[in-house]
Amino acid sequence: MIISDKLNSLLTRVNSVCVLTGAGISAESGVETFRGARGLWSKFKPQELADFDAFIRNPELVWEWYNYRKKIIRDVKPNAGHMALAKMEKLVKDFSLVTQNIDNLHFRAGNKKVLELHGNIERSYCIDCGKFADNLGITPEGKMPKCPLCNGFVRPDVVWFGEMLPTDVFEEAVETARRCELFLVVGTSAVVYPAAGLPITAKAQGAYTVEVNTEPTEISHIVNETLKGKAGDILPGLVALLEETRRKNER
Ligand code: OAD
Repeated sequence: MIISDKLNSLLTRVNSVCVLTGAGISAESGVETFRGARGLWSKFKPQELADFDAFIRNPELVWEWYNYRKKIIRDVKPNAGHMALAKMEKLVKDFSLVTQNIDNLHFRAGNKKVLELHGNIERSYCIDCGKFADNLGITPEGKMPKCPLCNGFVRPDVVWFGEMLPTDVFEEAVETARRCELFLVVGTSAVVYPAAGLPITAKAQGAYTVEVNTEPTEISHIVNETLKGKAGDILPGLVALLEETRRKNER
């Protein structure tokens, strides 16, 4: 992995790091990304599956889709990229992990705190009484889960198109982008806002911004540095550098 002298030297002293992840970090675990020729949105229509009106029209279909995704996610494991970020959390004093992913893989890798901008597929809640039903597991095919308390419709706790992000979570993500010294953008096409605005916020306040991606993206020309390649190859390398310098500083 080739990194600039600037990033190398920053890693020796950095105390505040914010990481934004997208579907690309889970690709090596076997979870499909959304965009691109083989992405989920090339096979499925988001307006029929990830949309509140679609849910009201056809809740069984929407649940079928989430059960399909739950099955995939249940059977995969966090990869080297996830594991590296779990290690990074332990090494950096002020560390924040912000994700657009709903797959729960950062928690499964061992990160203690994850700012989940788009929710988590493992959780669900009742749209009538608002009480969380928590993890329903995989619901029986063709069956619409109902709230055990009020018999209302239960939906996955994920953000659909046109919906607001959880305000407290997003505000905390903005806060961390505003104070970090290093901002890493990993495996996201950076086309979905407001998440895609976070690296821009970070750069505007003076953070060094680094993109880790297999392809150029919408923010490649904005970030300070691009590390082209798989998150599972690059992130362990960055963490090894962090570890090495921290060990030296302890001596
Ligand atoms: P995308 O599918 O739009 O982008 C995935 C990115 O990961 C692309 O830029 C790929 O080049 C990159 N990539 C693929 N494999 C990689 C690897 N091994 N290492 C590093 N990068 C890799 O996914 P997101 O940007 O996460 O929203 O999509 C953002 C949002 O759009 C999602 O959260 C979802 C979707 O609609 C909602 O559902 C609300």
